[in-house]
Order: sequence, then C-alpha cells, then structure tokens
Amino acid sequence: MKLYEKHTAYPITLTLNGVQRSAPAEARMLLSDFLRHELGATGTHVGCEHGICGACTVRVDGVAQRSCMQLAVQADGRKVDTVEGLNCGADSELGDLQQAFKRHHALQCGFCTAGILMSSSHFLEQVPDPTEQQVREMLSGHLCRCTGYTNIVNAVLEVAAQRMERSEHA
Ligand code: FES
Ligand code: FES
Repeated sequence: MKLYEKHTAYPITLTLNGVQRSAPAEARMLLSDFLRHELGATGTHVGCEHGICGACTVRVDGVAQRSCMQLAVQADGRKVDTVEGLNCGADSELGDLQQAFKRHHALQCGFCTAGILMSSSHFLEQVPDPTEQQVREMLSGHLCRCTGYTNIVNAVLEVAAQRMERSEHA
C-alpha cells in the first residue's frame, strides 16, 4: 500500500515577510527547501539539515524555528518571516539588528548570520532587556565557526539597549 504519492505536489500558500506567496510542494519537501527553491528566499541558509546548527532558523507565526525540521505543507496558511524581512522600508535599508552586526563585525563568512538574526529578533521581543548570559543562552542554539560569538553578543546587547532607550523616550 502506498503511504503517500511520491510526486504529488500540494498547493502551499503562506505569508512570507508580509506578502502572500503560493507554490507547489511535494509531501516531503522541507520548509527550508521550499523557501529557497520555490519562493527564492535564499537568505535562509541550510547547514546540517538535522536541527543542530541553527542556520536555517526562520520565524513561523512569530516564533523562531528550524525550517529544516518541518515540512513545507506544515507551513500552509502560516506567517513565515525570513532574514529578507528584517530590512526596513522600501529602500531595503538594513534593520537595526543587521546594522549592529555590521558595526560590531559580528559576521565573517555570514553562513550562520541569517539564522542568528532571526533567533535574535524573536528573542529581543521576548526578553527586551537581556543580560549577557541570556544572550549567550539564546545563541547556544546556533553554531558559528568564525566569530567566537563575542561580537554577536555585543551587537545583540547594543540593539537591546537602543530599543530600551527609544521606548523610554516614546
Ligand atoms: S540546517 Fe537546520 S538546524 Fe542546521
Ligand atoms: S560568520 Fe561564519 S559561521 Fe558564523
């Protein structure tokens, strides 16, 4: 008995960075592959495909999740945000997290960066005024071979401080 039709493509519609997008996906296609190959959102990187490295992290309905650990069909009807959505404004100006990473040299090869940015964006909404230890715990879900993490920690802490200051003066 066939448990699934190997080559059957299912229509998937999701909201990617605020824009409704549709494309077909076979039953076993990973969300990471769907984003990259069907929707062209190649900012999301794929490293281990085992849920270890964190490179593929996106936000699904606001929550940071590994896109290599779920199927595209599971994202049908959901809101998915990727690193491309962190830019602010129509002129694609970098968002505050991205600018801080640039200022602090928080990336070298950049392979891990999109995933770390997506986890950081979710984290700072949950923990707006984090300690260094809390930032390091959040980063423990990501592997970076280049930076030694310290510059990433500094960038995230700086953005937290900037946002706190802005909210106090709002
Ligand atoms: S590619 Fe998804 S966790 Fe490594
Ligand atoms: S910047 Fe190269 S893996 Fe993190």
